[in-house]
Amino acid sequence: MAPKLSPPLFTWLILLTLSLIFLYSKILFLYPSSPTKTHAPIPCNLFNGHWVSDPNRIPIYDETCPFHRNAWNCLRNQRDNMGRINSWKWVPEKCELPRIDPLGFLGLMRNKRIGFVGDSLNENFLASFLCVLRVGDLGAKKWKRKGAWRGAFFPKFNVTVAYHRAVLLSKYEWQPKESTVPNRDGLEGIYRVDVDIPANDWADISGFYDVLVFNTGHWWGYDKFPKEKPLVFYKAGRPIVPPLQMLDGLKVVLDNTVSYIKKEFPKSTIKFWRLQSPRHFYGGEWNQNGSCLFNEPLEEVQLDLWFDPSNNGVNKEARQLNRLIEEALQGTDIQLLDLTHLSEFRADAHPAIWLGKKDAVAIWGQDCMHWCLPGVPDTWVDILSQLIRYNFETGR
Ligand SMILES: *[C@@H]1O[C@H](CO)[C@@H](O)[C@H](O)[C@H]1NC(C)=O
Ligand SMILES: *[C@@H]1O[C@H](CO)[C@@H](O)[C@H](O)[C@H]1NC(C)=O
Repeated sequence: MAPKLSPPLFTWLILLTLSLIFLYSKILFLYPSSPTKTHAPIPCNLFNGHWVSDPNRIPIYDETCPFHRNAWNCLRNQRDNMGRINSWKWVPEKCELPRIDPLGFLGLMRNKRIGFVGDSLNENFLASFLCVLRVGDLGAKKWKRKGAWRGAFFPKFNVTVAYHRAVLLSKYEWQPKESTVPNRDGLEGIYRVDVDIPANDWADISGFYDVLVFNTGHWWGYDKFPKEKPLVFYKAGRPIVPPLQMLDGLKVVLDNTVSYIKKEFPKSTIKFWRLQSPRHFYGGEWNQNGSCLFNEPLEEVQLDLWFDPSNNGVNKEARQLNRLIEEALQGTDIQLLDLTHLSEFRADAHPAIWLGKKDAVAIWGQDCMHWCLPGVPDTWVDILSQLIRYNFETGR
């Protein structure tokens, strides 16, 4: 027979247990990165850190994922060095970044929807996300509604993840010059940008997604919109005077997009803005034989040389644009997804000359802008999934 505890001793035991639980919860709170606890709060700044080589690391999907885009499917295109590229692990300064658990994450997202809005670098991000999540639900099906360019539905969990292509975010359209008389400035027409009207592709999604990831970036350059076909900015249906230079136009588009999001999207929608994905053209622009045949990531000491605008390098625009974006987002409930720094290291991880198509390099040059999959965007997915989980668990 179990010995009977006297009532005072029993009370003391209960008090002792309660205080132990209390202390333990304090400890967990103080050391949230405790690796034994998978559902810890966000442990630290996940954007600062370094890449560590881990030869045992392998990607969690391969070239057979149906959500690849051919030009980024570097395994199928037999890009050199893929094993090495995927052996690097991002280690934040003050904690570990766990790899996403696709099944667990889909469970957390049950009956929810995640949307990406922006340019092809967000599509690159999406393709990685879909291939990763598919590991948790092989029944994933292509999904394309609400103006989405592409996406997938995960039936086991009723989760939708999709991408809306809107490269400038605002609506823009080509307007050829009316007069047929050739003029000296060589103007062929204009791209009219309505800064206060979101592109149709995402004009209709307010309230539909639980999580949104915005970006805009590499279209804001003179190679996309040269002076014969410039961007001309309109507001309230009239041209803005005096006409804005491209980056001033970007500022106005950002301000208008941010206030549109604030006004039209519910507070409960978790909103992220992904900062610039850096390019790694070495020795020239994309159309000047710029190349990225690197076997290893860059060293930290090389980054400023490549990317600090004051060095006027080929790839300086990432940090330039980031400044404008960070300014426009100040004081809003849109969270920064600052994937720039960690990506700056990875000159080794672009498709480069392995584009899966004969002559592609001769026509388009190397691709030192998008990323191989599997590859760096899988780390973006690890980070985003941590932040989403954190937002839901803290009831933001
Ligand atoms: C699936 O999720 C959507 C929201 O994303 C919800 O409206 C719908 O009711 C869900 N369907 C089922 C069968 O639970
Ligand atoms: C690029 O390389 C090709 C072949 O080597 C050469 O013919 C061409 O002039 C180069 N272009 C530039 C802009 O350097």
